[in-house]
Amino acid sequence: MFQETVSILHSAQVAENVYTLEFVSERIAHATLPGQFLNLKPDDSFDPLLRRAYSVHRIREDRIEVIFNVVGKGSRILAAKEPGDPLDVMGPLGVPFHYEGEYGTAILVSGGVGIAPMPILGDRLLALGKSVVNIHGARTAGMIANDGRLTNPIFATDDGSLGFHGNVVGALDAWLHDHGASNVRLFACGPNRMLGALGEYCNARGLPLEVSLECQMACGIGICQGCPVEMATGNRKYTLVCTHGPNYDINDIVLDSIPSVH
Ligand SMILES: Cc1cc2nc3c(=O)[nH]c(=O)nc-3n(C[C@H](O)[C@H](O)[C@H](O)COP(=O)(O)OP(=O)(O)OC[C@H]3O[C@@H](n4cnc5c(N)ncnc54)[C@H](O)[C@@H]3O)c2cc1C
Ligand code: FES
Repeated sequence: MFQETVSILHSAQVAENVYTLEFVSERIAHATLPGQFLNLKPDDSFDPLLRRAYSVHRIREDRIEVIFNVVGKGSRILAAKEPGDPLDVMGPLGVPFHYEGEYGTAILVSGGVGIAPMPILGDRLLALGKSVVNIHGARTAGMIANDGRLTNPIFATDDGSLGFHGNVVGALDAWLHDHGASNVRLFACGPNRMLGALGEYCNARGLPLEVSLECQMACGIGICQGCPVEMATGNRKYTLVCTHGPNYDINDIVLDSIPSVH
């Protein structure tokens, strides 16, 4: 894990209330694996005091990109950053997705800003020789950054304004109907309600699903005990999302034990 002050290379709004920031850090770029996150300090004031957690979205050579919704003070400050502005970055943090193994097709399912860890994961899976399909859902087309960042994307919108008319579980069901469900593994990130519905769907069909959680977090490095998630398996009652997660087999955790932040 490194802590660096980097310089913003690029900032943009890419969809309704969706922003990206790109910066260069050779050390963090080379150390980061899919599913890990960064802790960003919005600015050098005491308000907001705490760093904010953001999944690594894409890495291209030494360039690192994050993607985020503006939901409060910290993200509002980040969205206003311009090229050349400094940014205090800590990372990479957390345990990566468990994407190694014998399977042919990875289905990456995301909702809203849950798109965040999917491009870096898709790139790594393609390099490993896996087939990759992304199923990405949002309320409406304007909330989707539809600019080539996802591999083989299928979009789903609640209002039918882009792609499949319905949610990502419906779009997944249609895809599996056409392509079959053998030799697939699923990875997902999004609102807890979406993860819960996807978990039920996958469990009913015996499909392996790993989810990336976005919970309330403070220190991000295992000190404050502020990010517990209840375990459904094993000897421990709780683990900390920042150090043991954020990526878990859906059946290892009690999803309802973490308040949804979306
Ligand atoms: C491992 C991890 C990865 C994440 N990756 C992304 C990402 O890639 N893109 C993205 O947009 N968001 C991501 N989040 C959520 C992001 O950290 C919060 O949206 C951010 O901290 C909110 O800061 P704020 O100051 O703007 O909002 P605040 O003013 O702190 O809060 C505004 C609202 O956001 C909620 N909130 C506060 N803190 C968090 C938190 N840590 N996580 C989630 N919601 C929070 C509050 O309940 C409140 O409703 C991630 C969170 C975690 C734990
Ligand atoms: S955020 Fe402090 S222990 Fe996880």
